[in-house]
Amino acid sequence: MPSPVERAVALLREGGVVAIPTETVYGLAADASNELAVRRVFAIKGRPQSHPLIVHVASRDAAQSWTTGFSSDAARLATALWPGPLTLVVPRSAHASDAVTGGQSTVALRVPAHPLAHELLEHFRGGLAAPSANRFGGVSPTTAEHVRSDLGPDVDFVLDGGPCDVGIESTIVDCSSEAVAILRPGGVPRERIEAVLAKSVPVRTTSNVRAPGMLESHYAPRAGVTLCDEGDLESRAQKLSGRGARFIVVSPRRPVSGDWIEAPSNADLFARTLYARLREIDERGYDVALIVPPAESGLGLAVRDRLRRAAAPRRK
Ligand code: TXA
Ligand code: MG
Repeated sequence: MPSPVERAVALLREGGVVAIPTETVYGLAADASNELAVRRVFAIKGRPQSHPLIVHVASRDAAQSWTTGFSSDAARLATALWPGPLTLVVPRSAHASDAVTGGQSTVALRVPAHPLAHELLEHFRGGLAAPSANRFGGVSPTTAEHVRSDLGPDVDFVLDGGPCDVGIESTIVDCSSEAVAILRPGGVPRERIEAVLAKSVPVRTTSNVRAPGMLESHYAPRAGVTLCDEGDLESRAQKLSGRGARFIVVSPRRPVSGDWIEAPSNADLFARTLYARLREIDERGYDVALIVPPAESGLGLAVRDRLRRAAAPRRK
């Protein structure tokens, strides 16, 4: 009997699509060198072809063939933070196809830290193009069960690596020019990036690059999401009550009345449980989640980014 990793490798070599665990969220992986397999990933996700994917590799060495070179900032970040929840946008080499990069001159690279993802990549020996393993625009999966319920029979295999430790996507840092910037806050705090580079690094959430995570509405559950400060909580809850909405409050302190989930006391825990909570809120049939976000430091920046997008007006 082949092990689950061996089975995943065999399927990926044949051009299959396999859901894989990473420390951030589950990815929907295909051989990044196989254009047909990559196109299947887009089809399963319902993602527009022009939106580029992240190429996952086993090591910094394995990353080299996908790029014409790392800037000194990129090299510093890779040395300090790979393997880990960090994606570097660097100039692409000819090896990176238009199917993966959306026709751009850059490629996004990541070395995941999850032990099963690492084992898989070591055996596979190539790059795996993998977006989060959910339908386009929805909540990312942090367990194998989430993947099965989102994508079911559309994937060839789900490699179960348990619940994701970080719980939100990688931090994407654009190192393709001198002007280094964070394109998506994520599992590595901004403070850490700035400490490694010994300079301040802006968060640039508007870009001419087509990045799904940069769309206003993204990471959205079915329920509406409303954000508020702790001080406004009671009045907002009363308004929702008055409208007859079925709502639940996610906050550090219990509201005077109504359904409540205690918000995690620190940002790391908030990140780890965020997507599972949003899914649970949908399962329980609420119309609205009224959420008090964590403070902005550490992973709080990324949690607030995801919550803001979950709360953004949606295209019907
Ligand atoms: O943690 C993660 O990053 C997860 C796990 C599976 O690794 N992956 C993930 O993939 O979040 P996805 O496809 O959901 O988000 C990838 C983001 C998108 O916003 C995409 O547009 C951006 O990376 N991206 C990819 N290539 C890029 C490039 N060349 N320049 C700028 N952004 C890029
Ligand atoms: Mg995604």
